[in-house]
Amino acid sequence: MGVLNVVTVVLAVLVTLQESGQTTGQDLGEDTEPCLPCEELDQLKNDLMKMQAETDNTFSMLEANATKDRQALRHMWKKTHEQENRIVELEGQVGNLTGDKVKMDKQVGILTDAVNRLIHKKVVNVALGKAANQTSTHGPGAASRAVDGDTNTTFDAGTCTHTQEEDNPTWWVDLGQSYTVERVVIFNRQDNSAERLNPFNIHIGDSDQVNENLQCGGDHEIDVDEASISVSCHGMRGRYVAIDLPGPRRTLTLCEVKVFSAPKKWREDGRCGRGYPAEDGYPAECDPSGIYPCCSSNNHCGITAADCDCPTCVDYRNPLPATTSPATTPPATTPPATTPPATCPRGYVQFLDRCFGLSTDTKNYADARSACQAAGRHLAMPKDPETNGFLVEQIKNTYSSGSFAWFGLTDQVQEGTFVWEDGTPLGNGWSDWAPEQPDDYQSAEDCVHWTADQGYMWNDYPCSENTYYVCE
Ligand SMILES: *[C@@H]1O[C@H](CO)[C@@H](O)[C@H](O)[C@H]1NC(C)=O
Ligand SMILES: *[C@@H]1O[C@H](CO)[C@@H](O)[C@H](O)[C@H]1NC(C)=O
Ligand SMILES: *[C@@H]1O[C@H](CO)[C@@H](O)[C@H](O)[C@H]1NC(C)=O
Ligand SMILES: *[C@@H]1O[C@H](CO)[C@@H](O)[C@H](O)[C@H]1NC(C)=O
Repeated sequence: MGVLNVVTVVLAVLVTLQESGQTTGQDLGEDTEPCLPCEELDQLKNDLMKMQAETDNTFSMLEANATKDRQALRHMWKKTHEQENRIVELEGQVGNLTGDKVKMDKQVGILTDAVNRLIHKKVVNVALGKAANQTSTHGPGAASRAVDGDTNTTFDAGTCTHTQEEDNPTWWVDLGQSYTVERVVIFNRQDNSAERLNPFNIHIGDSDQVNENLQCGGDHEIDVDEASISVSCHGMRGRYVAIDLPGPRRTLTLCEVKVFSAPKKWREDGRCGRGYPAEDGYPAECDPSGIYPCCSSNNHCGITAADCDCPTCVDYRNPLPATTSPATTPPATTPPATTPPATCPRGYVQFLDRCFGLSTDTKNYADARSACQAAGRHLAMPKDPETNGFLVEQIKNTYSSGSFAWFGLTDQVQEGTFVWEDGTPLGNGWSDWAPEQPDDYQSAEDCVHWTADQGYMWNDYPCSENTYYVCE
């Protein structure tokens, strides 16, 4: 396996980890996200360091040999035409080796930064001091008290909100712009009435009709003896974060709500790479969905070929390096003996850079979603024919014939508007509906599964039914 191939494998793991992230955590720290796949990340870091050491070794050995050979030939007194050619070839090899080494060092450096960024992931409370509102206010319990930065859990301290008793009381904060939310931490009152909070829901999205936004998990319950609860909403995005109490005649009191979001990995001034730290202190990247997605070799984000295609450029739209040009290692030598790290956690199957886990049990849609989240994953999203085809094959091979399996697509929020687990609407995107589907049969079918009855094409089905499910 060539050096660049090893880099590719490590990158694939990194992309997978970055996407799956982690779910629950009791850590209530202000500014770091507990790293749940820490072991995997540490392993990755070790692999990178080992790889760097081994390739350093190999490169210097090769270079020394080529240099020696070249000098030996040079000092020969009478040179044949073949020897002259050999000198030119060796000089080319030394030049290429040096180039490869620079490229390789840069890639390993970027990967190491990315792993470190995941291990010591900083998050900031983006709700602090933002505009808050609630469906009603009782006494002095204004909505703004939940974003005043004071987590005192005694109502009389003047830092907790209070609605009147009403049906489905709701509190929300307008973050002013969309953020990717890692987790929401809620402080409950501890002087009395702590049990009033249970159960509660969290909605996150861009609609100011806040209860219509996607829900982060299902009903949540806080331990009434704990001052706070941390709920992971990994990867959900939105401008509004709402807490609501489902059901009639309830009262909502919140002493603080913290909404943690990962800081931006790129800079306002368009600089990137070593020497140009982002808000989290690590070398800045370039916004992969912005107009300048590539980091040039002189540390500017850009879009021209000189920014995106040069050997030491980084194209953040596609972090996987091209596999077409393996390091120009002379054939006489053995490549560095790096063991490629396992790319998917045990029990998961890999497709491209994604890992999928087929459940061994059956659950209704909400429980299936929670089970995936508890494992730091989410329900699978087969958004293209290749991924869908791969998963259908896995399902056929894993489950007895006639079995169904949930994936992460539902129109529970708004009938007829199917939305993927990551909050993006299906819209006119690729789909594989079985004939006549979705039909919302008896107005009771809002969740989507692969149906064995119709060649494992997609079908809407009652969310309350228990079927197998696929996490990713
Ligand atoms: C060093 O070069 C010589 C002569 O070109 C070759 O025979 C030998 O195998 C090379 N050794 C290594 C480790 O590349
Ligand atoms: C050095 O790399 C260039 C470009 O990849 C290639 O064309 C050339 O053959 C290489 N030279 C040697 C001696 O390997
Ligand atoms: C708070 O929400 C209510 C509707 O529930 C709305 O009438 C009111 O204008 C909002 N207040 C602010 C300051 O946004
Ligand atoms: C919370 O406020 C109460 C009442 O003002 C006060 O007695 C208590 O010391 C405060 N607790 C903390 C942790 O600051």
